[in-house]
Amino acid sequence: LRQLASELESIDLRSDNEAPVAPEILAAIERANRGAADSYGEDAITARLRAVLCERFETQLEVFPVFTGTAANALAIAQLAPAFGAVFCHPQAHLATDECGAPEFYSGGAKLIPVPGEHARIDAEAFAAALSACDADDVHQSLPAALSLSQSTELGSVYSPRAIAELCASAHGAGLSVHMDGARLANALAHTGCSPAELTWRAGVDILSLGATKNGALAAEAVVVFERALTDGLARRRKRAGQLASKMRFVSAQLEAYVRDDLWLRLAGQANRAAAALAAGLRGVPGIELAHPVEANEVFVRMPSSLADGLAKDGVRFHRWPGEHALYRLVASYCTSDAEIERVLACAMRLAA
Ligand SMILES: Cc1ncc(COP(=O)(O)O)c(C=O)c1O
Repeated sequence: LRQLASELESIDLRSDNEAPVAPEILAAIERANRGAADSYGEDAITARLRAVLCERFETQLEVFPVFTGTAANALAIAQLAPAFGAVFCHPQAHLATDECGAPEFYSGGAKLIPVPGEHARIDAEAFAAALSACDADDVHQSLPAALSLSQSTELGSVYSPRAIAELCASAHGAGLSVHMDGARLANALAHTGCSPAELTWRAGVDILSLGATKNGALAAEAVVVFERALTDGLARRRKRAGQLASKMRFVSAQLEAYVRDDLWLRLAGQANRAAAALAAGLRGVPGIELAHPVEANEVFVRMPSSLADGLAKDGVRFHRWPGEHALYRLVASYCTSDAEIERVLACAMRLAA
């Protein structure tokens, strides 16, 4: 009976947002929960967070913890783009598709300009073409202000440091600043083996949305600013957005635990390995085709809807990806087990046969 019950338990591959909080993060919250502490980010843990991030990123930076990735993105974009500014991003960018206009709202009206590229990575030539189509002297057009890159991307691919550097060089050459949506930066770090500096400021990124929630935190994200001048007004902007936590120590404690002792890389490595195993297995199932390279923790497949329905009936939970008929996304998290992957693959094989 126990075996039957465990077989009937569903396997949740809808998103890494569905994963529980990592025990190490909960323990850090518990440790932070001793006595009184200064509020609104004046506490010792938030000071320690800044120090540990400076060490990990090998530079002087400023950190502004917030509760959501959308807030981090929208605040960062508002720092880079005036209301009459233009922000270049991939059409699949979370900024453009899933934030209900928050970047436009926080910036007071900046315009998002889509720039294509395979597997949700902005193509360098397409970006150059988009830039040259703009006339910064034409008062009728939005003023090119920023480039936003997602690392890892919304389709589970990863930019190399070289690709980031090339895009950042074009952006800076045209007077734009660069934002990175790092909701899944740790997965990109684990995939490339690069240092945090190599994938961000050393390649030219000016401001980063550092995510932790999808990789084991409870509600902890941050705007990380590498370029000091870009911090101007951000403290008030965060307050105005309702993202200045009075008990910030509990957000900072999560982020500190996340980067200290490389917990973020360990958790992201586990998620990436689970996704790679899933992708390797699915590649061998007749009728299933991988739609994008699996370089982080997300697996995109094309499959007949009968197969997708069969998997769902067998308790495998995942999303159909909008915009394309037979495209599905399966997301592994740090706690997706080998047994779960084996069960999904066994189901897929059985259904395909
Ligand atoms: C690439 C990316 N950026 C940003 C976010 C925003 O995170 P949140 O849902 O915490 O606002 C998400 C969430 O799914 C995401 O996938």
